[in-house]
Amino acid sequence: MQYRRLGDTDVQVSLIGLGTMTWGEQNTERDAHAQIDYALDHGITLIDTAEMYPVPPRAETQGSTERYIGTWIAQHRGARDRIVLATKIAGPARQPHNPRHIRGEGNQFDRKNLTEALHDSLKRLQTDYVDLYQLHWPDRSTMTFGRPAYPWIDDAYTVPIEETLSVLADFVKEGKIRHIGVSNETPWGVAQFMRASEKLGLPRIVSIQNPYSLLNRTFEAGLSEFAHREHVGLLAYSPLAFGWLSGKYEGGARPAGARISLFERFQRYSKPQAIQATSRYVELAKRHGLSPAQFALAFVNSRPFVTSNLIGATSLDQLKENIASVDVKLSPEALAEIDALHELQPNPAP
Ligand SMILES: NC(=O)c1ccc[n+]([C@@H]2O[C@H](COP(=O)([O-])OP(=O)(O)OC[C@H]3O[C@@H](n4cnc5c(N)ncnc54)[C@H](OP(=O)(O)O)[C@@H]3O)[C@@H](O)[C@H]2O)c1
Repeated sequence: MQYRRLGDTDVQVSLIGLGTMTWGEQNTERDAHAQIDYALDHGITLIDTAEMYPVPPRAETQGSTERYIGTWIAQHRGARDRIVLATKIAGPARQPHNPRHIRGEGNQFDRKNLTEALHDSLKRLQTDYVDLYQLHWPDRSTMTFGRPAYPWIDDAYTVPIEETLSVLADFVKEGKIRHIGVSNETPWGVAQFMRASEKLGLPRIVSIQNPYSLLNRTFEAGLSEFAHREHVGLLAYSPLAFGWLSGKYEGGARPAGARISLFERFQRYSKPQAIQATSRYVELAKRHGLSPAQFALAFVNSRPFVTSNLIGATSLDQLKENIASVDVKLSPEALAEIDALHELQPNPAP
């Protein structure tokens, strides 16, 4: 395993991070514990979850993922300090697919909601602290979850970033969280967080958890410069574009039990132009003698702005293959061919 520094902190995290959002829907508690055991045995230290998980989000299952991690922690008390545990508070439901069952539709990032959310996460996780507490999506209308452009919507109310950061800073002081991160954030939002930290003398955000894969390299436009100059790196999510980049949906195949076969909700990488680009990357991987999944993950691993690549797996075989991508180095020729395809068809699934 390789390790990278989390923002400006003294915390090193594994380059492959363990995503968990299938636990409680496609995966059982037993599967979840087996994945944690295997991941830790193979050098993973970062585990990423959210109060909203599993996905698709449903009132009946909400919190199960954190609960499964919590039962593992309870059974391995001595191991808590070996894990960098990251979770997230869900934001307000401004888009149709945002969940409305977690503290209601106006679930904004004010003191009341933040306090309640963190308290409940700590309880489910059976721990006194989380290492990284993230805002799952912004408390304002902006480009998130596949929106191709800034939507220019006047929100009736948003909690000012300074206020949110002040509450999170109190949690840091109380020892309930170690570090603060954002997710589905834009360059404007990251700049506001930086400015608020400087102005009020509050902790800086240490990470940006955004989508990043061969099909979505939008991070490279504005946020990559923040990663470089401000040391706030990317926790890359959906590195296989929901599994598409493994090549298993090629030719219209819909394997039983797989995310795209099971759930209507996951349309983000299903547009014709994304399917076309996927086929090109799958073919390229094969030409270089690599499994398409490892090829796609190795690309993410190779980016200097990536702090950790958050993989997801529904089986131990997938987990093994994905973790082993850390040992796959793409040749300069392969990287040049990837860039050529990207130029031909940039960000087919933003
Ligand atoms: N902040 C956010 O808004 C946000 C959003 C999404 C994800 N995340 C985080 O990022 C993590 C990863 O996201 P993701 O699950 O969307 O990642 P992904 O890598 O795009 O997709 C993972 C899925 O692809 C399939 N797969 C994985 N490895 C495979 C392999 N080697 N061969 C064939 N199929 C394979 C599995 O689903 P099937 O077996 O069902 O095909 C797996 O669940 C999540 O668990 C979560 O922690 C965060």
